[in-house]
Amino acid sequence: MALTPATAGPRVRRVRLRDYTTLRVGGEAELWEVENEEDLREATRGPFLVLGSGANLLVADAGVAERVVRLGRAYGGMPDFAASSLAGRSEVWVGAATPLPGLVRRAQRAGLSGLEGLAGVPAVVGGAVAMNAGTRFGEMSDSVVAVELFVNGALEIVPASELGFTYRHTDLPAGAVVTRALLRLTPSTPEAVAEATAVVDAARAGQPKVKSAGCAFKNPPGESAGRLIDEAGLKGLRVGDAMVSFEHGNFIVNVGTATAEDVTALLAEVRSRVPVPLELEWRRWGF
Ligand code: FAD
Ligand code: EPU
Repeated sequence: MALTPATAGPRVRRVRLRDYTTLRVGGEAELWEVENEEDLREATRGPFLVLGSGANLLVADAGVAERVVRLGRAYGGMPDFAASSLAGRSEVWVGAATPLPGLVRRAQRAGLSGLEGLAGVPAVVGGAVAMNAGTRFGEMSDSVVAVELFVNGALEIVPASELGFTYRHTDLPAGAVVTRALLRLTPSTPEAVAEATAVVDAARAGQPKVKSAGCAFKNPPGESAGRLIDEAGLKGLRVGDAMVSFEHGNFIVNVGTATAEDVTALLAEVRSRVPVPLELEWRRWGF
């Protein structure tokens, strides 16, 4: 019988980050998969970046030198919404590696309201907190009461009021890893939650289904970056296999084997042709 060590330690391997991002762009890195606090301590001893589901990342073709830390299965369980709503409670801790789409569906089935605005947003909970993901129907910060952070080698609970949530932005302390989030949801009915979700699904219906990282740019105040890019006549503009989507101007899609260099050149071209300054929403790694 094989002996299993008490703690196996982080699982470390070299990967191509393009296999871990929705845009399918980016070179190699060392991936450190962690399952507990001890693993986190070890993984974060060197310079590191935290990977969620890779839905908002542009990674350089040469990859990254930092360790890429990803929370493993131990951080990804679904909370028992049924039990929490039966008990009349609406606050529940959720692991940072829990996939957001599944969470949104589960909350709906349990008749808990608060996550409908996040329907269709590809993410894990940690990435959705870090980006304050959302739509005009609601954002992550609407439901987050507190987060558990691994920072400076220890876990701490930080109330949402100290996280500086604004549009697509959170002030996480440098080097912090979100490990769990405490969500407050409002008891409703599955039917009412489904109805609200359908409105959000409808608003997203025109978004492209091909490889992308969602909207490339934040909306300038009172404006839509997608509309500005569309009005500048840039749909279909292409560098290599990176293209401004015909369906939505703010989606830069990978129509084949785009490189980070192609994508970067296209972003610069789009910015130079739109009269309003555009701020990147994507996080760039390795540049
Ligand atoms: P990643 O892309 O992996 O990481 C994003 C950032 O979060 C990085 O800086 C990373 O270091 C940090 N991070 C991740 N996990 C942690 C953690 N545990 N602790 C600390 N930092 C962490 N976004 C929206 O807001 N609204 C939308 O409607 C939307 N639609 C999209 C549609 C498509 C088709 C796609 C591909 C993307 C879309 N996005 C949208 C973008 C994306 O879904 C969000 O930005 C989401 O929050 C990214 O989460 P992630 O887990 O993939 O994070
Ligand atoms: N529009 C155009 N042409 C386009 C795209 C949009 O004319 O190519 C017009 C639309 O017709 C509409 C307006 O611009 O009148 C706004 O468009 P849309 O409803 O698609 O919203 P958006 O502002 O472009 C935002 C978020 C999306 C989110 C949707 C749905 C940002 C940067 N984008 O898009 O989030 O899914 O609302 O609510 O805030 C993301 O952040 O990655 C993302 C996809």
